[in-house]
Amino acid sequence: MIISVIAAIAKNGVIGRSNGEMPWHVKEEFQHFRNTTLGYPLIMGRKSYDALGKPLKGRLNIVLTRNGGFNPGYEEVLVFTDMNEALAHCKKASYERAFIIGGGKIFEEYISIADEMILSFMNFDAVGDVLFPEINKDVWDMVSVEKRSEFDIKIFKRRKAVRVE
Ligand SMILES: NC(=O)c1ccc[n+]([C@@H]2O[C@H](COP(=O)([O-])OP(=O)(O)OC[C@H]3O[C@@H](n4cnc5c(N)ncnc54)[C@H](OP(=O)(O)O)[C@@H]3O)[C@@H](O)[C@H]2O)c1
Repeated sequence: MIISVIAAIAKNGVIGRSNGEMPWHVKEEFQHFRNTTLGYPLIMGRKSYDALGKPLKGRLNIVLTRNGGFNPGYEEVLVFTDMNEALAHCKKASYERAFIIGGGKIFEEYISIADEMILSFMNFDAVGDVLFPEINKDVWDMVSVEKRSEFDIKIFKRRKAVRVE
């Protein structure tokens, strides 16, 4: 199963606000997110889920929280306290791909387990205190760029480990 990170990042690295607000609303970017993720599981931090307020349609919504008693308010939403268990569930359900969709804390912790990243680089700065982690060029190769009116979609793949013998 491919583990994909998907995010939208302002020019200054901002992806959101710790009070849950999203600093921008760009319809074309939202459509790209929807088209890319439809049919696949979405794994998100509890704060991002709270900010959404309800599950995203047409996809299995999985919330990560350290609070085992967290009630997402919708019976179709799954709650896990451990990323490995969330991924094991997706694998067992035979998904070819699972998306890690944020927010900042989840990206920080789990970029290290992703195989690819589908990142929208917005062409404006934004006001916010949640940032996307730095992209290590030794780890990630950019394999494609697609230009849209207010953002560029760049796909990164994890470099294969080079074996030194
Ligand atoms: N631009 C984008 O692409 C994008 C995408 C998604 C979200 N966002 C924005 O990002 C902001 C939210 O980001 P955030 O960093 O504040 O919060 P977050 O990453 O969405 O959620 C953090 C929460 O996830 C849970 N969590 C984190 N690590 C965990 C672990 N190892 N095991 C189990 N649970 C874990 C904890 O929940 P508990 O506190 O319940 O234990 C933690 O408080 C919002 O503004 C949102 O709009 C932007």
